[in-house]
This record gives sequence, C-alpha cells and structure tokens, in this order.
Amino acid sequence: MNVNQQPKTLSERADELEHQMEEELERIVTKSLLFNLADGKVGYDSSAALQAKYPGKYMLMGDDPRLPKMPAKPTLLDYFHYRFASMNHLLQSATHALKAGLPEKVILACLLHDIGVCGFIRADHGYWGAQMIEPYVDEEVSWAVRMHQALRFFPDESVGYKYPDMYVKNFGPDYQPEPYIVEEYKRAREHKWYMTARQICVNDIYSFDPNAKVDINDFVDIVGRNFRQPKEGLGWDSSPSAHMWRTLMRPTRFL
Ligand SMILES: [Fe+2]
Ligand SMILES: [Fe+2]
Repeated sequence: MNVNQQPKTLSERADELEHQMEEELERIVTKSLLFNLADGKVGYDSSAALQAKYPGKYMLMGDDPRLPKMPAKPTLLDYFHYRFASMNHLLQSATHALKAGLPEKVILACLLHDIGVCGFIRADHGYWGAQMIEPYVDEEVSWAVRMHQALRFFPDESVGYKYPDMYVKNFGPDYQPEPYIVEEYKRAREHKWYMTARQICVNDIYSFDPNAKVDINDFVDIVGRNFRQPKEGLGWDSSPSAHMWRTLMRPTRFL
C-alpha cells in the first residue's frame, strides 16, 4: 500500500463492493430516491451518470436478478413467501384470532395488519397496508388495518387492551402520538367498525416469539374466501393499488 494512501473507510469499502456487484449484473440496477433517503441521502443517479459509469449497459426494466423470482401470476401468498421480510408476526396474530373463534374478516385483518411493515414501508404502515389490500378485501378489513395504526396507542379496558410495554421500550416513556393520530383515534372510536380494528390490537402479538408454532397453511382457505385474487396475478391487474404490488415485485425497475 502506498504510504500516502489513507485506509478506506467502511462506507468507501461498501460503495466499492456495491459498484463491483453492479458491474457483474447485466443491466444497470439503481436505487430510487426513497431508498437513498432511507440511507440519509437526498438524490439519485441520473441515466446519463449511470451510463457513464457502466458503458454499454441498459437500465433494468424487469425482474431484479438478486431477488427471489416471483411466479408469472403471483398470489397474495406468493408475496408472503417471496417478498415479505417475515411472516411470523402476522401468522402469530392471525393464529390468536383463529383460536379466539373470531369471524374470518377479523382473522384476515390480523393476518394482513402489518404487511406495511414487513412488506413495504414502516412509516405509516397501517395506511400503506390498507391501501395495498383495499381493492381486494371487504371494506371493513382494510378500514380496520388502516385504523389499527392509531388505535394501538390508546388503551381500551373493555377488551383488556393496555398500552403495549413494547412501545415504552421502543419509543421511550414520554412518547406521545402525533396530533393526526390522536384525531384519527377519535374518529375511529365513533365508527361502526371500531371493534374490528380494536380486535387487531387485541390479537397483535407484542412479544414476537420466534419459536411459536404457526403455519401459513392454516389460512389458505380463509384467504381464498376473503381475498379477491385477480386472475392476471396480483400486480398485473388494473386495480388502484396494483402498482404497489408491481413495485414490490420489481422494486428496482428504472421507470
Ligand atoms: Fe401494526
Ligand atoms: Fe402488529
């Protein structure tokens, strides 16, 4: 090593590795602004800059070869298998609801309540998750998924729901939900489906037991009866949220 050369920082080494990995790919894979924002960077590489960096290569416009391959006509359960970071929490919550003998709509809401977190984006996960499923489920199910975002911060003694200890641990003892969440809670409290959303919180497992015995096959029939799987494949249909599923399928498509 040249004596004048500074040792590389961790982030320089990571950039180098990323560059090397990108060189090995046939097409140019780049990050959207949102992925860069999550790394604390405002900005993205333009197509001119990318072409200068990888001469003779085209932009990726399809599947990302680094990700698990999705079937041609994916179902909701395919997303569970190939895209969601973890399904354990969802399965544990839904299993709780199943054992409690709750209606199928509530069980499905529990099964899908955190797909925002494990399948899309953490921030405002209830809203994202609800929007993803809205065209395919009963309105009560997506409403409940949206509202659990606010309700989980507020106790309801009538069903034995307390403010989760986990939130004290995660957010600190002084954390206060923002005003929009407080207002949403007040609206939900007055709504005819309040108890459906509340049941999500009641069956939400805040302990995240990694050894709990759960099985996605317990829910195949409930999903089949209550989730309108599009015949073209989830993401290839023309629903108002199909693009969200397509983005999850191919998150690094250039456009
Ligand atoms: Fe949640
Ligand atoms: Fe949850």
